[in-house]
Amino acid sequence: MNFKRLRGFALLALAGLVLSGCERPPIDTVQVGFRGTGMELVYNPRTLADQQALNTPPPALPEADKSGPRAGAVYKNVKVLGNLSVGEFNRLMVGYTQWIAPEQGCGYCHNLNNFADDSLYTKVVARRMTEMTLHLNATWKNHVAETGVTCHTCHRGQPVPGKIWFKPDESKLAKGLLGQRNGQNAPAPSVAYSSLPNDPFSAYLLKDNRIRQISQTALPQGINGNGSSTQATEATYGFMMHMSDSLGVNCAFCHNSRNFSNWQESPPQRAVAWHGIRMVRELNNEFIEPLTKTFPANRLGPTGDVAKINCATCHQGAYKPLWGEQMAKNWPELRGASSRPIKTAAGGSGR
Ligand code: HEC
Ligand code: HEC
Ligand code: HEC
Ligand code: HEC
Repeated sequence: MNFKRLRGFALLALAGLVLSGCERPPIDTVQVGFRGTGMELVYNPRTLADQQALNTPPPALPEADKSGPRAGAVYKNVKVLGNLSVGEFNRLMVGYTQWIAPEQGCGYCHNLNNFADDSLYTKVVARRMTEMTLHLNATWKNHVAETGVTCHTCHRGQPVPGKIWFKPDESKLAKGLLGQRNGQNAPAPSVAYSSLPNDPFSAYLLKDNRIRQISQTALPQGINGNGSSTQATEATYGFMMHMSDSLGVNCAFCHNSRNFSNWQESPPQRAVAWHGIRMVRELNNEFIEPLTKTFPANRLGPTGDVAKINCATCHQGAYKPLWGEQMAKNWPELRGASSRPIKTAAGGSGR
């Protein structure tokens, strides 16, 4: 074998190694825009098959009797679910156990000697989560529509949802000679392993920093000082990577890539996503952050913040959570009114 042949083989082997990092065929493409616009979604049937179990909801429980005395009158310490009948109330408790603590049982949230007792933090959190879920189904129809959500949408049979986020510990990022890295160039799962800034959440899902950066004027920093910058644009792209990754789609699900900015040319899903961003921001600010002191230290992040919600918490890699299965339909208990007014500052309206 001459040297050239050998080098050929070596290159071939190297190419094989490099390509093994890519997805193995078959790949399905679905056209979602006009011909020639390149608006296509790429799916891998193998990945979809792997997600089947995650997206299959647990079997529904038989409907409960809606008549009879109200839970608020029968039990001692029911603050939110007081309007339910005793039958509906107990059906929901079985649901809670199935969705959040199937292995631990009622005792995960309850002192089994006194169900009215609020001494376990899990019960206090679950009560606020109940208000959050009622609020989601009633106020955020422009995102969750009639599909709605239940506790299972996020929890999927475990106390801590599989997809949550904390603020990264900035002190761990390289400084000194390397300067402030802006959380960049250290491929992070939060931005689908791109080298974009690794905390795409604090700015948009907690604070309301501006996402749209494409200038509408010739001079970006000019007279009207619109403040667009390369750094802010990188943060936008990091967040877009998170949104695509969470939904298991690519950019064309929400954009016509010939003009990312233009709403008229964007698929309707982009508007749903716009409301989704405002919804998640409200959930984190109104429901999750105020629970920080309720959680024990071992549940908090590296900087002492509480586990928060992002697009993946509900979607978990699917374009619609549970592939659009209308699970909430079987849970009218979570679509009614709370027996105490739900306090939120923003009241479900988006900016
Ligand atoms: C994920 C947490 C969670 C699990 C698991 C759970 N519960 Fe509850 N339970 C609550 C919350 C929260 C309340 C209070 C609801 C309210 O204030 O509206 C409550 C209230 C109750 C009450 C009313 C007690 C009173 O007198 O005030 C009963 C009874 C009850 N649960 C029974 C059960 C049973 C039985 C199970 C197991 C099948 C169970 N729960 C599992 C969270 C839970
Ligand atoms: C939009 C997503 C979402 C929904 C819907 C949701 N949760 Fe949660 N839940 C979370 C997040 C995020 C946490 C914080 C994780 C942690 O415990 O550190 C959490 C934590 C909890 C905990 C504390 C668990 C622990 O071990 O620390 C309980 C209990 C709980 N939720 C109950 C419920 C109940 C009951 C419902 C339905 C009425 C519900 N959740 C609906 C996102 C959600
Ligand atoms: C799930 C829907 C969705 C996906 C997927 C998505 N985007 Fe976006 N994108 C939006 C929304 C909504 C906005 C506007 C956000 C706002 O104003 O709050 C936006 C804004 C943008 C902007 C700013 C436009 C401007 O006017 O400055 C760019 C650039 C962008 N997206 C690029 C991308 C890229 C690149 C991808 C793929 C990696 C992507 N997007 C994937 C929904 C999406
Ligand atoms: C509280 C749970 C929850 C969270 C968090 C969430 N979504 Fe959704 N999303 C849903 C539900 C439920 C639907 C299905 C609504 C329907 O059937 O039309 C949905 C639908 C969508 C759709 C429309 C899909 C289609 O095919 O029409 C888009 C786009 C979307 N979500 C984007 C996002 C983005 C982006 C985020 C994060 C900023 C996000 N979602 C966060 C629950 C959630």
